[in-house]
Amino acid sequence: MKELFFDTIDSTNTYLKAHYEQLEDQTFVRADLQTAGKGRSGRKWTASKGKNLTFSLLIKDEKVMEKFASLSVLSAYSVLESMKKIGLKDLSIKWPNDVYVKDAKICGILLEAVSKAKMEALIIGIGINVNEEDFATGLLHEPTSMKKQLHEDVDIGSFKDVVYDKLIQTVEKLKSGCDLYEEVKAYDYLKGKEVYCRIGDEKKKVKVLGIGEDYSLKVLWQGKELSLFSDEVTFHL
Ligand code: BTN
Repeated sequence: MKELFFDTIDSTNTYLKAHYEQLEDQTFVRADLQTAGKGRSGRKWTASKGKNLTFSLLIKDEKVMEKFASLSVLSAYSVLESMKKIGLKDLSIKWPNDVYVKDAKICGILLEAVSKAKMEALIIGIGINVNEEDFATGLLHEPTSMKKQLHEDVDIGSFKDVVYDKLIQTVEKLKSGCDLYEEVKAYDYLKGKEVYCRIGDEKKKVKVLGIGEDYSLKVLWQGKELSLFSDEVTFHL
């Protein structure tokens, strides 16, 4: 495992996209501040300098890249387990890529693939709200942070070590063919909820059956079971 750290960078995902060829598999890139942090669906990811954990992990191993469909959920699971280890409660995974505390988001994940004729690399970008206190998002559901949950500052350096270790453990398990589905399904935030999802141009109200063994989201729509894959859908609770 190799670690790079930047005081300020545009985006750790963008950095890995530009430099993946020269970097080894399982390189972590972390920054105290991103000036052009990226979220899902073209959104921005903003986080105050030095108060959060913002990093990306480079995957170049073919066996792991093959498990593309499971990686968002399994990365979220790794973050969740790391948070649990230091005392956070009421954690769940909101398929396909967020960690929640009750109904509040605490971590977002952006998985990006670099492909030419075939997939060359996967970049797992992770933003964790650690000591952030003031979100000022104007969102209906205010996000939360580890500090807000634990009522004390969290040492970012030590927590980073816990998360990196857990992610590498998960990646190594995937490589050896080990399945983590049973562990993951216990933390399914959307299971049983009725949600609106946009599939292509259509907005559908569906009942969520839960994360499936193939890591797609199984939903019921007009009596039919559908499998949703993360690139196709956005959700509104
Ligand atoms: C989301 O919830 O929309 C995904 C957010 C992902 C943010 C992380 S922060 C580190 C990495 N670099 C980025 O530009 N984005 C991801």
